[in-house]
Amino acid sequence: MTTIAVLPGDGIGPEVIRAAVGVLAVVRPDLECIEAAVGAAALSAGEAPLPDETRALCDRSAAILFGAVGSSEYDEAPLSRRPEKALFSLRHDYGLFANIRPVRVYPGLEAESSLLPGLVEGLDLIVIRELTGGIYFGTPKEQRVGADGVEEAVDTMFYRAPEVERIARVAFEFAQGRRKHVTSVDKHNILETSGLWRRIVNRVSRDYPDVRLEHLLVDNAAMQLIRRPRDFDVILTENMFGDILSDEAAMLTGSIGNLPSASLGARDASGTTFGMYEPISGTAPDIAGKGIANPTAAILSTAMLLRYSLADHTSADRIEAAISRAFREGARTADLTASGARSFTTIEFSDFVIDRL
Ligand code: IPM
Ligand code: MG
Repeated sequence: MTTIAVLPGDGIGPEVIRAAVGVLAVVRPDLECIEAAVGAAALSAGEAPLPDETRALCDRSAAILFGAVGSSEYDEAPLSRRPEKALFSLRHDYGLFANIRPVRVYPGLEAESSLLPGLVEGLDLIVIRELTGGIYFGTPKEQRVGADGVEEAVDTMFYRAPEVERIARVAFEFAQGRRKHVTSVDKHNILETSGLWRRIVNRVSRDYPDVRLEHLLVDNAAMQLIRRPRDFDVILTENMFGDILSDEAAMLTGSIGNLPSASLGARDASGTTFGMYEPISGTAPDIAGKGIANPTAAILSTAMLLRYSLADHTSADRIEAAISRAFREGARTADLTASGARSFTTIEFSDFVIDRL
């Protein structure tokens, strides 16, 4: 039997993940979904952010379905005792270097976008974020007191050519299955890591002559993303730029609650890979526990799981089509009711989706 590790975590994580597992169970009742603790939920039970038992479950699973981690209670704790540590360990230890964040505006949701509906209608782009390198992981990384007694801190942005090359290949391969356009985002005018990045991306691009490559500086990219978002197809960028740009891109769709993600490792011969799938929204503490969070990102994350870790494209298509139908037929959670529509609770929305599978 194929096992899926389900790590609901904190904040709205448990609510949206349970809704998503409900959808997954209808489409693939044969999958064994097993829950385990992670993040603040594990810390408050006296365990590590990523308990050994949870890691063991992930080790024997085909994929991880992840909710969210984080809690203000641990803001002052060292990184090793913060909920986010679990996320970094999973990304790093399973070599999940390719973070895929599709950004789609579903028909009917245009009026919910932060931009004018005419700018986002039909928007369909994908952010490919390097996930296991750069300033998130480089060392030294610490807060300390300098020799002169002054408090100081350092983070290190560090990349090696093979890390850039493998994520660039992922981007070019995705582009080949789409509109064949890669926009590589860097800060070439100031960062040495961006100098390396641009050189390697240019080199890799020669292997994909059918794909058009464009380079943008990150500040300009942030601007163009809200000026002419539909001109983007595949955005390729390093870890921190991808973190920031993907939140910006999320708002084009009306809500960050709409954006799923996949964090993938190297693909095996069958074309599938172990992966971790999660909504990009985070814990949303302001609405946690109310049962009103938008489960779209979590449900779409299960579709990505089926597609990339189980090569079950039929089930993935079914889930995506059901979400699309639900939106077309007017289902809206509270984050998508700027236009005045009645809002569905989390479970009402996922039940509505299940009815449309
Ligand atoms: C994300 C999140 C994480 C990140 C946080 C929770 C550490 O914002 O996945 O985008 O910065 O990578
Ligand atoms: Mg983020």
